[in-house]
This record gives sequence, structure tokens and C-alpha cells, in this order.
Amino acid sequence: MRRTPALRRLFSETDLTPARLVLPLFVREGSKVRNQVKSMPGVSQTSVDEMLRDVARAADHRLGGVILFGIPESKDASGSGAWSEKGAVQNAARAIKHEFPEIAVITDVCLCEYMEHGHCGIVRDGDVDNDATLDVLARVAASHAEAGADIVAPSDMMDGRVAAIRSRLDADGFHSTAILSYAAKHASAFYGPFRDAAESAPAFGDRRSYQMDPANAREALREVEADLAEGADAIMVKPAGPCLDLIWRVRQGTDHPIVAYQVSGEYAMIKAAAALGSIDEKAAVMESLTGIRRAGADIIVTYFAIEAAARLRE
Ligand code: PBG
Repeated sequence: MRRTPALRRLFSETDLTPARLVLPLFVREGSKVRNQVKSMPGVSQTSVDEMLRDVARAADHRLGGVILFGIPESKDASGSGAWSEKGAVQNAARAIKHEFPEIAVITDVCLCEYMEHGHCGIVRDGDVDNDATLDVLARVAASHAEAGADIVAPSDMMDGRVAAIRSRLDADGFHSTAILSYAAKHASAFYGPFRDAAESAPAFGDRRSYQMDPANAREALREVEADLAEGADAIMVKPAGPCLDLIWRVRQGTDHPIVAYQVSGEYAMIKAAAALGSIDEKAAVMESLTGIRRAGADIIVTYFAIEAAARLRE
């Protein structure tokens, strides 16, 4: 059954298609900005005009979607840049919907990039105040919906945010904006390069009081259950490679779409090993993505989305 390429193709159990891939984009204000992210070779922060060139490539490769992260010019203690009508994410969502209606627009809903302290919520007495953060997140999600986002994706890990976002979206008339909840999200060392890209490293402490302990899987199932009960339309598991078991377990427990995020550190590891000549980059990319699909993910967010789609086209 493995003897020839034809037989291997016939008996392949797992398919990967560009439609299942989502490309993360880091957008900032201004024009003609393209700043390489040092820890992620091949990834840049861009202004909206430059970003549209990347989205054109994504659309040309028929990717399923893009997920937007914003980097504001200034940060404060309330994260006000996150819901600004003219923020980079809002401008980017409007522009993409206008020029590339064929590609789904997902927006990451979080406060870490917009807070002067870099935490994902409002901080009181040195720690994140879960309940005080919910209204702010809902407001951010509504501003993304207003700008045209198809799907809002809260990544903050506050309890109750999906319900808060759903009721705000409905109240504001955005009944058909979907919620992709980062439900099972570990406090992972593999987010390191992202914090460089999004300029969102916490100024003190870490995220372990709100993101999950990587030792826990049953807790992830409870998070998924809670978020679905609150109205999540799809579930994110993150990181992907270190959490294949979680993807599999969530798959057994729900029929909702599962999205897995192959995060910045997973990307950087493959890039670094390939740069050293230790592994074949293209093969490693395809194998890692196929493994994530095989574990049960319907959709994969990956910085390799265009590279993988190009490979699939070959
Ligand atoms: C925002 C957020 C993070 C990532 C996605 N959304 C960083 C974090 O939680 O610290 C990580 C993505 C990546 O590493 O590629 N909270």
C-alpha cells in the first residue's frame, strides 16, 4: 500500500487544504511600514496598506482566513486602543472585507497589546481582575464586529467572557458575528516570539493566574464545555504541537469546529532548526501541520500558511 506515490496518495488518511489554514497578521498604524520580527524570520509587523499585499497573497493561495493582531502606537491602563474605531485592527478588518471578501476575517480579542503592563485584563492589586475585564472585552469585540470581522476570537482566558461578548454582540445587532473561543490555552513558553511580534510581554509577573497549567488536560475539557455553554461557535486549542492529546480529547467530546494554533515558538523552532541545516523546512512544516490535522483539528492557525499552501499547490 505504500509502494508508489499513487498508492500512498490513495491511502492517505489525512488531508490538508489551504482552506483549512489561517494566517496571523500583525498590524500597526501608519503607512508603508514593514518591520521584520527578529525572533520570527519571515514574519513582519505591517501597516494596513502593506498588510493588504500579504492578504492578496493569502487570497491568491486560497487560504481560509486571516487572524488580526493589533499593535497600537500608545498603551494605557484601560486598554482603550483596543476598541478605537480607527485602530489598526478595525482599519485592517474594514479594508480586507472591502478588497478580499472571499477570505474570512478573524480578529484576536485581547488587551495585552494595548495595556501598558502587558497583561490580558484590567489589573488591580497586582493581579488581573477577571470580572472587571469582561465589559472591556465585550466592547472590543463589538468594535471588531462593527468593522466587519466575521469571527471574533477572545484569547484573554477570563472566565465568562464568551457570554459577555455574545450578549454585547447581540445587543448591538451583530447576531451573525461568530465567536471562536481560545478555550484551551496553556501558559506556554512557546508564545515567546509572539510577544516580541505583538510587543505584549507582561511588564511584571506572568500569565499563569489566567492561562492554564500545561500539566492539565481535564481542566481544558471543562474550559471547552463552559465556553460552548456560553455560546462559543468554535473552539481553539493552543499551542498545537505540545497539545495534540488535547485536540484529540476535545474532538471526542464535541462536534463543534476545532481550531488549533501552531504558535510563534513552534514556528521559530522549525525555522531555527532549518537555518542550522538540521531539518528540511518544507517537509517539517507539512509533517507538523498534518499531525495537527490528524489529531483532530479542523482548522489550523499557522505562520506557515502561505508556505504550506504553496507546497500543496505543487
Ligand atoms: C494574546 C495572544 C497571545 C498569542 C495569541 N494571542 C500571547 C499570549 O497569550 O501571551 C500567542 C500566539 C503565538 O505565540 O503565536 N493573549
